[in-house]
Amino acid sequence: MDKEEQDKLKKQAAVRAAGLVKSGMKLGVGTGSTVAFLIDELGRRRKEEGLKLKAVVTTSSRSKKQMEEWGFKVDELSSVTQLDLTIDGADRLAANFDGIKGGGGALTMEKNVAVNSQKVVWIVDESKVVDRLGGFPLPVEVLPISCEQNFQRFKNAGLNPQWRMSGKERLVTHYGNYIVDLNVDPVPVPEGLAAYLDHTVGVVEHGLFLDMCEEAIIAHSDGTIEDRQ
Ligand code: 5RP
Repeated sequence: MDKEEQDKLKKQAAVRAAGLVKSGMKLGVGTGSTVAFLIDELGRRRKEEGLKLKAVVTTSSRSKKQMEEWGFKVDELSSVTQLDLTIDGADRLAANFDGIKGGGGALTMEKNVAVNSQKVVWIVDESKVVDRLGGFPLPVEVLPISCEQNFQRFKNAGLNPQWRMSGKERLVTHYGNYIVDLNVDPVPVPEGLAAYLDHTVGVVEHGLFLDMCEEAIIAHSDGTIEDRQ
């Protein structure tokens, strides 16, 4: 699928998901190119239909800026007890609704927003849908203080780590950390790997989002939009 076709599908999924957003909601807004289409649709609805949200939390400064450009006020997650709904993109969506996220480097905020939402909906084009998790590097955000040791640990464990780069430098996340992409394809036992990463000191967060998404809106190249629940 070429980029133009993929963008068309991303937009279709995003516009469909925007229909789930109602005035008065406390909304979590994810990150990425699919979410950028969602934000434009929410902005259009604000302008043309008077959509009014009770609270908005975004998962990156990019999404925050775009929401603010449309006139939405953006809140800090810590000032909102619980979000009603979060809509986000994903890098991979498995048949059991587990996913890989963090291709855009925003995994830590994305996971914090997701677990503090009553409902999480992902918007994807069909190229992201897989039977078993894999086909995309698994991002792990690590603290600089022990990043070299953790990189070596991942290497010894056969996880084929690679630093996420921004030009010639290591990419620095919103929180001042680095990202190591693990090349494990397919992810053999997602729950086991998630538990290992959760217990590795120096790992801030990882891109295995297990048991978090309840509904996925999938745009297919045959023109159908699937609402999977
Ligand atoms: C960012 C993410 C994004 O949701 C994911 O990478 C999908 O991005 P896109 O919609 O651009 O394909 O997890 O950290």
